Amino acid sequence: MAEPSAAMVDMAKLVSLCQRRGFIFPSSEIYGGLSSCWDYGPLGVELKQNVKRAWWRAVVQERDDIVGLDASILMHPRTWEASGHLEGFTDPLVECKSCHLRWRADEVKGDKCPSCGGELTEPQLFNLMFKTFIGPVEEQASIVYLRPETAQGMFVNFENVVNTTRKRLPFGMAQIGKAFRNEITTGNFIFRCREFEQMEIEFFVKPDSAKQWFDHWVEERSNWYKKLGIKKENLRLREHSKEELAHYAKECYDIDYLFPMGWAELEGIANRGDFDLVQHAKFSGKSLSYYDEEAKEHITPYIIEPSAGVDRSCLAFLCDAYDEDVADGEARVLLHLHPDLAPIKVAILPLSRKETLAPLSKEIYADLRRSFMTQYDDAQSIGRRYRRQDEIGTPFCVTVDFQSLEDNQVTIRERDSLRQIRVPIAELKKTLQAKLEGEDLFVLPPGGKIWKEGKASK
Ligand code: GAP
Repeated sequence: MAEPSAAMVDMAKLVSLCQRRGFIFPSSEIYGGLSSCWDYGPLGVELKQNVKRAWWRAVVQERDDIVGLDASILMHPRTWEASGHLEGFTDPLVECKSCHLRWRADEVKGDKCPSCGGELTEPQLFNLMFKTFIGPVEEQASIVYLRPETAQGMFVNFENVVNTTRKRLPFGMAQIGKAFRNEITTGNFIFRCREFEQMEIEFFVKPDSAKQWFDHWVEERSNWYKKLGIKKENLRLREHSKEELAHYAKECYDIDYLFPMGWAELEGIANRGDFDLVQHAKFSGKSLSYYDEEAKEHITPYIIEPSAGVDRSCLAFLCDAYDEDVADGEARVLLHLHPDLAPIKVAILPLSRKETLAPLSKEIYADLRRSFMTQYDDAQSIGRRYRRQDEIGTPFCVTVDFQSLEDNQVTIRERDSLRQIRVPIAELKKTLQAKLEGEDLFVLPPGGKIWKEGKASK
């Protein structure tokens, strides 16, 4: 990892916000937590689902050359022999002879234990896959592994998908799911977890078009992050050197993000060549070739694999969205989350808790929540309530005031610009829908008016 950026959010502040507001908690916290495992709270689960939905929409719903898959986490153990994980998915570890802590050999400077200064053992290879047993007998023959990547589920289903969908090359499969790695170096919040989620595409192409599709995916995936609000100066592409390439890869680029601890991988895009289909054909005894009707011959497709992490994406979106400014003379913390990612889209805030405002406010709330994730909040001053919504990234607040009872209008306030418009309640849902899809706030519906030109300062 490279130099940390001073301009970026302090990780400690972000972790604190995530815990305080219910985005992310340490796993099994009441027992002291479980290292590198995390629970997504009420807002975190919304953010995570929104990230997954945005990805699925971009790669499955809006394309006609990719289909979805949801393969099981436990797979036949031969899968991991064929994939090379049993032999090669290892980190070299050294162990301290005094305190018995283990370290990744390449991360220890010198030959002493970084914790107690004790003598270290020679490096030994440590497999990162979690083992468990299938069935009631715990014996060698019943060992299975928690998958360390979702990819293999797609390779072993190549024939099923070709036969059932009649897809022709080039086409892909997309899958979102849990993966598990017994990581040695952990930390940096949800950046490196032992249980995490991946969003992977396996895109099957004719070998002579692999380069063209590789370039397509590098561009497509970089644009996805930018479209969802990541600042382009916080993204970079990094090509893997020959020594760094995974055993299956012919070429690989990382999309790196400038995390608070420095540049680090957000997503990897690899040209896996024909490695996976050849290996699974060899180990399963099934032919996994494809009949190319144009060339009138059987070929083994090459695979281009854009492989992203859900948790790492959530972390990047949160880091990029985090901001502090001054609004109406008061300091505030806010998340500039893209509306598609914001956990709550709209908050209904009656100006006062007085009985008279409740029926209309609740009626609006009941109507809007059928279309958007909506929150109702009538506790404390309106300023405090705006701050609470800003801090969780809610793009729009709707204020119901006493005048609303007379003119059937409410105020919409925008999180980032602090601008406000007044709109008829009858136009509210349609207006919010348009704003959430990116229309400028000051494009007014019939009967609407500009209410307040807002401005925040740093
Ligand atoms: N199938 C290829 C593959 O798994 P990878 O680079 O090992 O490639 C792909 O992983 C992505 O999965 C990474 O870019 C990262 O976003 C995510 N990822 C990998 N290990 C992770 C971990 N321990 N915690 C969180 N995310 C992880």
